[in-house]
Amino acid sequence: LFPFTLGGEAPPVVPDFEQAWDAAFEKARTFLQGFSLEEKVNVSTGVGWQNGRCVGNIPANEEKGFPGLCLEDSPLGVRFGDFVTAFPTGIHAASTWNRELIRLRGLLMGREHRGKGVNVALGPMMNMGRLAQGGRNWEGFGADPFLAGEAAYETILGLQHAGVQGCAKHYIGNEQEHKRTSTSSFIEDRTIHEIYAHPFMRSVMAGVASVMCSYNLINQTYACENDKTQNDILKREFGFRGYIMSDWQATMSTYGSVFSGLDMTMPGDITFNSGDSYFGGNLTTYVQNNTIPSNRVDDMAERIIAAWFLLHQDSPDYPSVNFNAFHIDDDATNERVDVQADHFRLVREMGRRGMVLLKNENSALPLTGSERSILIAGIDAAPQPGGPNQFGDQGGNEGILAMGWGSGTANFPYLISPYEAIQARARQNRSTLVDWDFMNFDLNTAMQRAARKDVAFVFVNSDSGEDYIPVDGNEGDRKNLTSWHGGDALIRAVASVNPNTVVVVHSVGPLILEDWVEHPNVTAILWAGVSGQEAGNSLVDVLYGDYNPTGRLPYTIAKNMDDYNTQLLTAGDTNDMSHILSIPYNEGLLIDYRWFDAKNITPRYEFGFGLSYTKFKYSGLSITALPSPLGGSSDETQAISRWESGKSTLITEGSSTATWLHRPAFKVSFTLTNTGHVKGGEIPQLYLAHPSSEGEPPLVLKGFTNVDDLEVGEGREVVIYLSRHDVSVWDTEDQGWRRPKGDLANVGVVVGASSRDGRLRGHLPSL
Ligand code: NOJ
Repeated sequence: LFPFTLGGEAPPVVPDFEQAWDAAFEKARTFLQGFSLEEKVNVSTGVGWQNGRCVGNIPANEEKGFPGLCLEDSPLGVRFGDFVTAFPTGIHAASTWNRELIRLRGLLMGREHRGKGVNVALGPMMNMGRLAQGGRNWEGFGADPFLAGEAAYETILGLQHAGVQGCAKHYIGNEQEHKRTSTSSFIEDRTIHEIYAHPFMRSVMAGVASVMCSYNLINQTYACENDKTQNDILKREFGFRGYIMSDWQATMSTYGSVFSGLDMTMPGDITFNSGDSYFGGNLTTYVQNNTIPSNRVDDMAERIIAAWFLLHQDSPDYPSVNFNAFHIDDDATNERVDVQADHFRLVREMGRRGMVLLKNENSALPLTGSERSILIAGIDAAPQPGGPNQFGDQGGNEGILAMGWGSGTANFPYLISPYEAIQARARQNRSTLVDWDFMNFDLNTAMQRAARKDVAFVFVNSDSGEDYIPVDGNEGDRKNLTSWHGGDALIRAVASVNPNTVVVVHSVGPLILEDWVEHPNVTAILWAGVSGQEAGNSLVDVLYGDYNPTGRLPYTIAKNMDDYNTQLLTAGDTNDMSHILSIPYNEGLLIDYRWFDAKNITPRYEFGFGLSYTKFKYSGLSITALPSPLGGSSDETQAISRWESGKSTLITEGSSTATWLHRPAFKVSFTLTNTGHVKGGEIPQLYLAHPSSEGEPPLVLKGFTNVDDLEVGEGREVVIYLSRHDVSVWDTEDQGWRRPKGDLANVGVVVGASSRDGRLRGHLPSL
């Protein structure tokens, strides 16, 4: 199924892009030498909404040999493209907990963007899933900063390896869609550092070319004119050398934005088609009348042009734009270049690896293939009646759900529904009867069909997206956490007559399952995620045991909606920008499982949870400190000894490039043995338990790996490394990372199969 690889396990090295950036900046400075002020300003000003072929366009300057830039969504493929792959969503990628596969997804998406002539792929998206209902959570990587950070890092390495610029978005605190342009997220410094900014720091470490500032305000200042988050944290502390672009219409000023670190305004005009810009002529005037120093405009242009050189996009064989995002029916401007190659293989592989088996009584799954009769119930199993791209930007829900809606989508080149895939697979045994029923609200028919079937599958889903498309009253964020199209009632009806009811859920995020989760006739629950164009095929691989599931939840599924401490705030009209709604992030570090752990609330299925068709034993934990490498610079030696003595590392600039902080410093090893009856893989997870005096949540994820294909009885040594950064906390007073106070041996290390299934316990070695 999956013949291409990146060459095995990535060694735990911290890549250093500094020299590459240096070289790119040198080229950029030379290149920009002959540019006038207006020409430099043009490099930072988009051409205006829908005035170019891509969703964002920087104009060409042919005289100077600059072809301009094409910026195109999305985090899962080339939005509005044809002959492109609809990859699994970000949340599905995160559910695999598989770095190599996530990197490969980035690489292949990067190749597709490049093949279409895109310079900047507008992803990955790394908001934190602070709210279970958050409309765009599915574009991102789940509700834990470490997992999201690893996924962002790998995605960017992949994308940029293909030669396309990545864009880490949305910076920062854009956790709900309702009133996204007029909410102020109140987030204190430690929480910003340890939770929300973490994936962005990892993005900088991956050499990300650009970052998109978000629509909302942070602590009462708009994100795109926020000196603290942009200049101080991202550029100074993290050492980000690329450029910051605004989200579309998120620029709010000229002076304030430019001074606070914004480098590019998108799509260029103040509001769509307003014909004016905060940059463009206004910016030029500010420089001419000495309000904004010209070297700031130099800096903006250099950052943008350096990123272009960093990715070697100046090369003559970089494809020019060959599609037209807003006019996909125009044959003159769409060359219909097929960039899909065999990427469907990755989609199917990642699809099956991201599916999470939540319940499996009496080995209901996998199917044996000799079932005499199967029912496939629920509209979510069916192809969309109006075709896979029936709804623009996927803003609708009729049939199989394989991505959410909004700008974070792509057109499906085709879409394999569960109905098609299961039927095809079941027909391999010609005596299996296959029946279906997609009439969700006709419960009597469903019950008639379900009775006397060997297996009754019930498919349900739950969808969300971006605020500009309301779907069934959901304005981006989900109104509730129950399944759509009466799914819960359908499950109950089928389960009332069929003792082997298997529920398959395609969902953008958590749902409340209490209505039926413990029903004795619901023998299995498969969380099939939102997995892209191969959805049905990936599913069948898991249902029939061709793949033994390894997916793990990237968020907590609660028993009650109210168990989540963070809820959507809906006061005020979503479009009223004169009224700013405050969103206090009072829970601080306690999002998702950290809250449930701290308050001892039992979730239905915890973060990190997922079953396998086999069982694993963990044994022989060993935790050692690694010697610091010889020959480090004296600055580095000093920094390490400061850190070891418990003083915070005062960061002057570039915490993301302080390699000593991120290099492996502790080695955690143990043995994993397959003690069940079938071959399978496991996702061992490592959580730190800080002493309560540090104010950390009870457990924080700081490591994971994927162990593939353990034969029955096979044991394998597993190693997870921790860096000094992984064990540090952010010291708000000193404004630096420091090690936990006291003896390091007070820090517990828990290795296990989920956030609540610790199997081995130890502690860090004393220093
Ligand atoms: C707004 C979205 O928030 C952003 O993610 C996207 O890249 C732009 N629109 C461009 O479509």
